[in-house]
Amino acid sequence: MKIVITGAKGAGKSSVGGHIGQLTGLKVMETDHLIEETFFQQHGQRKTCREIFTEFGSDFFRDLERQVAAACEQIDWRLVVCGGSTLLDPDSRRVLRNNAILVYLKADAETIWSRLIGIGLPPWLTGPDGRECLESDVTYLDEVIMPLSDIVVDATAKSPEEIAEEIYELLGRELAVRMTAANTFGDVVRVTTFGESHGPAIGAVLDGVRPGIEITEAEIQRELNRRRPGQSEVTTPRDEKDQVEILSGVFEGKTTGAPIAMVIFNRDHDSSKYEGIKELFRPGHADFTFYKKYGIRDYRGGGRSSGRETAGRVMGGAIARKLLAEKGIRIIAHSVEIAGIAATQCDYDVIETNPVRCADAEAARLMQQAILAAKEDNDSVGGVVKLEILGLPAGLGDPVFGKLDARLCSAMMTVGAVKGIEVGKGFALTRMRGSQSNDNMADGGFVSNNAGGIIGGISTGQPVELRIAVKPTSSIASPQTTIDLEGRTTPIETHGRHDPCIVPRIIPVLEAMAALVILDCLEIQSRIRPDA
Ligand SMILES: Cc1cc2nc3c(=O)[nH]c(=O)nc-3n(C[C@H](O)[C@H](O)[C@H](O)COP(=O)(O)O)c2cc1C
Repeated sequence: MKIVITGAKGAGKSSVGGHIGQLTGLKVMETDHLIEETFFQQHGQRKTCREIFTEFGSDFFRDLERQVAAACEQIDWRLVVCGGSTLLDPDSRRVLRNNAILVYLKADAETIWSRLIGIGLPPWLTGPDGRECLESDVTYLDEVIMPLSDIVVDATAKSPEEIAEEIYELLGRELAVRMTAANTFGDVVRVTTFGESHGPAIGAVLDGVRPGIEITEAEIQRELNRRRPGQSEVTTPRDEKDQVEILSGVFEGKTTGAPIAMVIFNRDHDSSKYEGIKELFRPGHADFTFYKKYGIRDYRGGGRSSGRETAGRVMGGAIARKLLAEKGIRIIAHSVEIAGIAATQCDYDVIETNPVRCADAEAARLMQQAILAAKEDNDSVGGVVKLEILGLPAGLGDPVFGKLDARLCSAMMTVGAVKGIEVGKGFALTRMRGSQSNDNMADGGFVSNNAGGIIGGISTGQPVELRIAVKPTSSIASPQTTIDLEGRTTPIETHGRHDPCIVPRIIPVLEAMAALVILDCLEIQSRIRPDA
């Protein structure tokens, strides 16, 4: 996230920016200084923006502006003081508005003119029609940039300190809204999911996908079918076909570069089972915490915290997976433990042949029996999923806060019912000595893979391996104890249509999240080393 302060020349951006820098502790960057520095690096001479503009002309100057804007693309947690004209260029505008809060200082032409007379008119306003030129520049920025801004502050009759304090307060509010509106995932390739379990529809918008990529609804549907309810007796009987429709971003079978919006209409959203518990908090569910956070009790099947939300991730992930497959990257997840029964064999071809998605056929049979036994007892079971990413090149992941393992674990933890993650040998490493845990290198590669394909937050080129702990399903029809909206202790049984074990259906969701992380990392890396 960056904060970009803009406005017409003389609106007070630099002094206001300086004060906001002090209030927030953020480092301040001025595009004017960056332009002068870029000019120096390219031409070996120190010149001011005014001199560069006068001596080399407007086109030359605008080109420097574009270069500086492009260099700002990946900066985070900085305050950028930016000339209004820079934002008039569409490419620069896209880059500077990306992951940014745009603050516009609005001042009338009269005030600006008298300020500029005081500090010296810029070269393009020194002519006889300078005053009219300023008037039209200010009107143009007010018409084009102001409506795009997140925060607009009247900078006419206030001191820079007063303006900065006003912006500081508004930034706090804006950040609070953005931080809580956590429905979007990713940096370059971003997925936003929408919809609730018992609302009319659920879906996703995938943005940042390059144009020209072939994609069909059938390819997305294939992945959705692996997640959809009603697949077998070990999943919820809710009868949803989960038929996806692409609404935008794909034309004649190819991505256009526009956001790809995808939707599924909920057909079987019977909320009647929830009527009896609308004043109760279901144990293990997010009912209590959502109520404490929002003060609203959407009792219809968990609303936004429902596993149904994850269909949107699978839609986005299906597109990501296709792109990864074209680069030889495969993501495979499978059950390695359910109800304490562990797989001892691993044959990838077996995974999709059994309802628990286990790579060991005999273990799968026992796992299925254990799930059905728990279901018979009105109870549920959990398990462990192993997720492997194969064919990944070395060099993906962004130290320090964007480490590949940090990104992947964060992605996995966003999925409901996930309660733990091990990377590589994980907790077992704590029982080894360094001489055993180190992955030695020989013959141009690694001898072992205890680290799970990630060292220092960056992929090694080996398979990435995660083990993900999935808790038993919260909804069980056995008697439990809870409280109601007034805090009174009450017995509860959670009836309705539920997965007696979430592990089989969580697998395509975890794969989708991993695919989105990896595609995002590839896009970031292609900007860091475009030639590699
Ligand atoms: C694909 C999928 C299906 C799920 N199905 C159910 C279900 O049928 N019943 C249930 O109680 N929880 C189900 N969950 C889990 C809940 O969404 C989750 O446990 C709950 O929101 C509380 O969040 P937490 O377990 O992450 O703390 C499912 C999760 C996923 C990812």
